[in-house]
Amino acid sequence: MTFRNACGLLVLALLASLPAFAQAPLKEQYRRPAEIPFPAANPYTPEKAALGKALFFEPRLSGAQNMTCATCHNPSFGWEVPVKTAIGAKNEPLGRQAPTVLNVAWMEHFFWDGRAPNAEAQAKGPIEADVEMNLPLAEAVKRLGAIPEYRTWFGRVFPGEGITPDSIVKAIATFERTVVASYSPFDAWIDGDENAIPAAAKRGFELFNSKAKCNACHTGWNFTDNRFHNIGTPSDDIGRGKYEPQNVKAQGAFKTPSLRDIEQRAPYMHNGSVATLVDVMVHYVTGGGDSPSKSPLMQPVPLNADEVNDIVAFMRSLTGSKQVVTLPILPN
Ligand code: HEC
Ligand code: HEC
Repeated sequence: MTFRNACGLLVLALLASLPAFAQAPLKEQYRRPAEIPFPAANPYTPEKAALGKALFFEPRLSGAQNMTCATCHNPSFGWEVPVKTAIGAKNEPLGRQAPTVLNVAWMEHFFWDGRAPNAEAQAKGPIEADVEMNLPLAEAVKRLGAIPEYRTWFGRVFPGEGITPDSIVKAIATFERTVVASYSPFDAWIDGDENAIPAAAKRGFELFNSKAKCNACHTGWNFTDNRFHNIGTPSDDIGRGKYEPQNVKAQGAFKTPSLRDIEQRAPYMHNGSVATLVDVMVHYVTGGGDSPSKSPLMQPVPLNADEVNDIVAFMRSLTGSKQVVTLPILPN
């Protein structure tokens, strides 16, 4: 081989690696964090997380002793339920879709409208709500207190406090923070395995962060800005607007959901109105319905069918293999 040919080959090789090289800083923004953050007010201990897991799967925390948190946040469906809106204690559909508890440790606002500030405050809601589990917390304390093993267990995890409404939700929140989205093919690609995802998914990642402007809201490793936007989902629900009545843009705005393990979590949106990821893309290509509340970031995105398929392939690459979740054995 002549020197000139060798140089030509070298230039070709450099050119071929350019797209991967150009994506490097972008990819860095999506790298999984090494550790789960726990708040100082409720630090992690393995015993507390184990107790919280028991409570997450504890039917006696519901009035009729027939529902658990997992009834509506089922690990098989990305910690959601495969219905438009979850069915509660009255056997009637609730107003909203059950969002995932994956990555609770990184959430900044809780519920679709952000009305709870942390996982501890959030957990009180469903236990007490008559349409959800329908059990006043004082009653929950009494019920668990009647079970000797729970008394001992709480006594060990919360010395001097035992079973209280606060210790119940602290344990549940600690367990929830250990529920982290699975290591997906996308993560393997970010970590340097070029063969982990198909070419279509790599093109989709590029489009997601450029022409399609999805990263205006679905940003960072958890694919959310933790903010509220009206994206024009057809619905009568005012969402965040209830808490910001003066803010036009808050009307019909909902928290940007994470896209982690998204394939397991259909149907989509706060009202479960969108059945598939392709249908989600149809919504974004057309830009959603018009309203003064709609986010200015929402414009019709002119994507052709191949580009839509690329973005869907990218979203699929965010879904890992299902994690094995063992059921806790509860005290009698
Ligand atoms: C009857 C179904 C049902 C049960 C039971 C239930 N949830 Fe939920 N959960 C929902 C729905 C629906 C929402 C969204 C409500 C809203 O946004 O107004 C939600 C929201 C949440 C969120 C907020 C997630 C986010 O993205 O903001 C967390 C965390 C959560 N639930 C945890 C729990 C825990 C812990 C329990 C048990 C103590 C529980 N849920 C029981 C249906 C349920
Ligand atoms: C203006 C901010 C914004 C932009 C831009 C945006 N999204 Fe969203 N996305 C949201 C919000 C907010 C929701 C929830 C809306 C609702 O429930 O009504 C959502 C919902 C979704 C869902 C359903 C998730 C679930 O758990 O139900 C998917 C999938 C999705 N977006 C993908 C995308 C893709 C792909 C793009 C780019 C084509 C994009 N988004 C652009 C804010 C945005």
